[in-house]
Amino acid sequence: MNALVEAVNLHKHFHGVDVLKGIDMTVAEGEVVCLLGPSGSGKTTFLRCINQLEIFDGGRLYVDGELLGLRESGTALHRLPDKQIARQRRQIGMVFQRFNLFPHKTALQNVIEGPVQVGGVSKKQAVSEARELLERVGLSERADHYPAQLSGGQQQRVAIARALAMKPKLMLFDEPTSALDPELVGEVLAVMRELAADGMTMVVVTHEIAFARDVADRVVFMDGGVVVESGPPAEVIRNPQHERTKTFLSRIIAEQEQHAAAAADLAKPVE
Ligand SMILES: Nc1ncnc2c1ncn2[C@@H]1O[C@H](COP(=O)(O)OP(=O)(O)O)[C@@H](O)[C@H]1O
Ligand SMILES: [Mg+2]
Repeated sequence: MNALVEAVNLHKHFHGVDVLKGIDMTVAEGEVVCLLGPSGSGKTTFLRCINQLEIFDGGRLYVDGELLGLRESGTALHRLPDKQIARQRRQIGMVFQRFNLFPHKTALQNVIEGPVQVGGVSKKQAVSEARELLERVGLSERADHYPAQLSGGQQQRVAIARALAMKPKLMLFDEPTSALDPELVGEVLAVMRELAADGMTMVVVTHEIAFARDVADRVVFMDGGVVVESGPPAEVIRNPQHERTKTFLSRIIAEQEQHAAAAADLAKPVE
């Protein structure tokens, strides 16, 4: 299968501190990869390098066979002009933990912004596509609402529609449900499940183990700026090989069971 993302010995440091210490990872076209790992392990930095919100310091990163951010001539590397970088970035949609919608624009206006401003799409066409996308994320009725009039789960679904409006080849999700109240997590995960079923290539940073188990083709566990292990979810989640993975998973699973128990407790009728 065609590799849509290929990271080769990717390095990134901040102020002399190595945050990514040689990441090798391939994501095939149509594949859903869930990235797990404790806080500070470099997951966000890795996604931000793919989306060129950060400039990596070493190694190579390819999307659809194209080297990101750089042009190689002989042994020399040159930074691509901004216009080329903008073109590369348009192929990639990113969904953040905090939805980052424009607060003064309605759901529909948020979704058409990219296609109209940078995609060269006519307003009429952008609006018609945006309505379809809002329907796809279950929000046709909310097209004219402002972010402040929407729940967190609805705002995140608008953010997904907004990313899809640019017709990306690849979608990156950085803990898309971790800022949400527990009762709103499911509606966002449901949209992501559908997207995966439709064949979108996705890299998802998440602590939702059930989602990773059910939806991911592959789970990658990162810690301390390296990939510790990766494999099919049934293997990595049920039978982790490394001590660090075992410790992380048992902590996360215990936390999620506690949350589930607390929610069930709240749902009990008062005697
Ligand atoms: N812009 C930045 N400047 C300095 N340090 C940063 C910056 N972004 C991230 N870091 C550091 O890099 C490490 C990895 O961060 P991050 O990629 O956000 O991890 P994760 O998403 O796995 O929690 C952390 O130690 C973090 O403090
Ligand atoms: Mg992070």
